[in-house]
Amino acid sequence: MCGIVGYIGNKSAVDILIDGLKQLEYRGYDSSGVALMNTDNIDIYKAEGKLQNLADKLFMNRDKVVNSTLGIGHIRWATHGAPTVINAHPHTCNCGGVAVVHNGIIENYKELRAKLEAEGCVFRSQTDTETVAHLIAKKYSQCKNLTEAVRLASLEIEGAYAICVMHKDLPNELVVTKRNAPLIVGVGEDEFIVASDVPAFIKYTKKAVYLKDNQIATITRENLNIIDLNNNSIFFTTEVLPWEPASLSKMGYKHFMLKEIHEQPAVIRNILSGKLRSVDEDIYLDELKLDKDSIKNLSRIQIIACGTSLHAAMIGKYIIESLCEIPVDVEASSEYIYRKNVTDKNTLVIGVSQSGETADTLTAIKQAKSKSCHIVIITNRPDSAMAREADSLLAINAGIEVSVAATKSYMAQLLSFYLLALKIAETKGSADKSLLKSLKEDLILIPQKLEQILSNKDQIQQCAREYANTKDFIFIARGVNYPTALEGALKLKEISYINATGYCAGELKHGPIAMLDESMPVLAILMKGLVYDKILSNSEESKARNARMIALTNSNDVKLDLLFDFVIRVPDVQEYLSPLIAIVPLQLLAYYIAEFLGKDVDQPRNLAKSVTVE
Ligand code: F6R
Repeated sequence: MCGIVGYIGNKSAVDILIDGLKQLEYRGYDSSGVALMNTDNIDIYKAEGKLQNLADKLFMNRDKVVNSTLGIGHIRWATHGAPTVINAHPHTCNCGGVAVVHNGIIENYKELRAKLEAEGCVFRSQTDTETVAHLIAKKYSQCKNLTEAVRLASLEIEGAYAICVMHKDLPNELVVTKRNAPLIVGVGEDEFIVASDVPAFIKYTKKAVYLKDNQIATITRENLNIIDLNNNSIFFTTEVLPWEPASLSKMGYKHFMLKEIHEQPAVIRNILSGKLRSVDEDIYLDELKLDKDSIKNLSRIQIIACGTSLHAAMIGKYIIESLCEIPVDVEASSEYIYRKNVTDKNTLVIGVSQSGETADTLTAIKQAKSKSCHIVIITNRPDSAMAREADSLLAINAGIEVSVAATKSYMAQLLSFYLLALKIAETKGSADKSLLKSLKEDLILIPQKLEQILSNKDQIQQCAREYANTKDFIFIARGVNYPTALEGALKLKEISYINATGYCAGELKHGPIAMLDESMPVLAILMKGLVYDKILSNSEESKARNARMIALTNSNDVKLDLLFDFVIRVPDVQEYLSPLIAIVPLQLLAYYIAEFLGKDVDQPRNLAKSVTVE
């Protein structure tokens, strides 16, 4: 987490830094800061809370900051130490000569700190980053060369980091390095902008150099030089990025989340247009770099992901097992990496990640890759670190998702799983052809069904108003929609802070039912199909304990209006595809409850969109 930006050029650095940090707010937003080169020293400005607080502070000091043409900036998601001004970056050494911003975690910071304190450094913050500032300053005092000081410090630092460093004696130099954290150098005319992610500089230049791990770049206004940890010069190429400056407009919606929920029909149409060309043709998925024999020989699939992506993966398991006759395991990446995994060359490993940066998933994928498994990556960021590990890259093309709560990327991940399952089933001949055809026919209809839900939001808004003032919320479902219950609960808890939990409905009577009383809302996802009657019985059991019952259903059965206090009706859909329909009302319900409660919908507390720490 955290976002870093650095600027060196002939323009005023402060505006470019703040502009860049604004684009990186998805990486954290609990405090921020900049360091700006002045005539003979470095000025530091920091603020707690949202970036706007820092921007306001800089505006008040405009005369003092506007002429600086070299600076570094940081937006923080606290890992070590509370989100206070003291702990905000940039951090400096004791004389203020070195200023550092950092994204990642320095794992051996305690040992380094103890050593540096013993040598006389006085620490002011609780962060791991301050260690880096003192360490680089120590090295610099010995070698009087900032690049060399960063190189020597890198040899002692353990962990993941992207670092951007400046020194008060070097008005034409910025030194940056990275290990297991993103850092890209934007190359302009007599200027460079380094950042954790492309949107921070794409407005100024489309030319970029992607730094590799353990490379150190020395940047002046005129030049970029890269060396490795052994001091070897590195030949690098400048890419021209196929990016357009993203319009981060809310397009009239109150929040990005609401806008992104409404984009889902278009996201599906866009994905299907290239891949599902005709219901009579096989799915077109040439991104899957497995030949027919390899697909037929697949003995097992492992899917690794976190959070919302994990829920998409669980639905992927259900669909692949139903259509492809291949056993599928789904596991949270953070668990996968700390146990012995049994894989062989016929195991396909799929990593799912909106950001392509999630540290746990990235580590898990690297582990699987070391065992020679074929790696499929499903991501919204084809330029990400995870994408670079892929043997087969399935880019979900959902477009930039700004809201921290994932919505349209989840929808696009689900689509990717349906297409992948159809492709494997077609290749293996493992499912009835008429079933595959009907799935394709119905997939094409999903966007218009979502549009019906979106144009009929009033029922969900009303439900949100009635249930907003609850402390707890239970979601129940079975079968293919059990992960939908988990995702509905996750959406609600992350943006409204209501204690929401998803259960497979059959488990309710094995413990959770004890929590039910007249204050507890229970939302049952009742989509017609194999488990409809079963969930209905589970709902009766909940009703008998006086729970406040809500149904989300595609059934017109009027009896539901008697059993349930509130019924949300959605268009009919076949069971396999019902997760695509059922999730949208739950996203809207979470949104309207959070909005009703006055929460910060797009940037909920304690969260960040890109989780780059384990
Ligand atoms: C929830 C949410 C998170 C992410 C999780 C994984 O709305 O967005 O749960 O899904 O942090 O992130 P990615 O998909 O980027 O690996």
